[in-house]
Amino acid sequence: MQRMPDLSHSFGRRQVDPQQRRQLVRNVFARVAPRYDLMNDLMSLGVHRYWKRVLARQARQRPAADILDLAGGTGDVARLLLGLGPRVLVCDPGLEMMQVGRARGASPIHWLAGCAEALPLPDASLDLVTIAFGIRNVTRIEAALAEMHRVLRPGGRLLCLEFSRPAAWLRPFYDAYSRLVIPRLGAWVSGNPDAYHYLIDSIRVFPDQRELCTLFEQAGFETVAYRNLSFGIACIHSGTRPSADGG
Ligand SMILES: C[S@@+](CC[C@H](N)C(=O)[O-])C[C@H]1O[C@@H](n2cnc3c(N)ncnc32)[C@H](O)[C@@H]1O
Repeated sequence: MQRMPDLSHSFGRRQVDPQQRRQLVRNVFARVAPRYDLMNDLMSLGVHRYWKRVLARQARQRPAADILDLAGGTGDVARLLLGLGPRVLVCDPGLEMMQVGRARGASPIHWLAGCAEALPLPDASLDLVTIAFGIRNVTRIEAALAEMHRVLRPGGRLLCLEFSRPAAWLRPFYDAYSRLVIPRLGAWVSGNPDAYHYLIDSIRVFPDQRELCTLFEQAGFETVAYRNLSFGIACIHSGTRPSADGG
């Protein structure tokens, strides 16, 4: 079994214990919540909207009645999934992020407080789980993937959109942009350079495309595949809970 770097002790460049990390990540999103969507637009020059639409298109390739957008934050992805099933559930430990999403108006989104590592949902109760830019923030990725597998029905799908490893030719530009531009933007718009240092550092230490496939497989997913977006800056991983896995 391939061992991945243990991220449960890593908060950016700092080594912390897992409980501390969980709290620090929560604080990051509590502080940036009011400006989170604006920052996303500025940092990615709006491209995150395109990545999320690709994720939603992939989700729509198959019917799904019960849908969870995990780490759903302000509900961007959940909104794109409305209509695919009768209701979409957002689950996120960040109450401030979900409050911003709720304030955008009534919609058939259901908001649920909870962590990816201990989902407050019954076994085999969902057809589709999406998670966008969320898994990198989870303290125990293996536990979170096991939970996503548990709550999916046999044949149900997981779609995960996350930053990944860009093509080699792009890396120097991408690194310079990440190091020089993003923390300054974060300081200017949200008053929070530290939160955006965390963002950059968490992307740097996160498993690459192949490593994340391995983690999916180790959690029991099959037909695991990935699709690079914008030359690998972001990536969509997909996997299916096997139809007959005894779980
Ligand atoms: C970068 S935001 C992504 C929000 C949204 N999915 C999007 O794409 O705009 C990361 C989200 O992960 C949530 N998060 C942090 N730790 C988590 C955990 N352990 N389980 C589930 N979600 C978590 C945060 O509260 C935050 O809303």
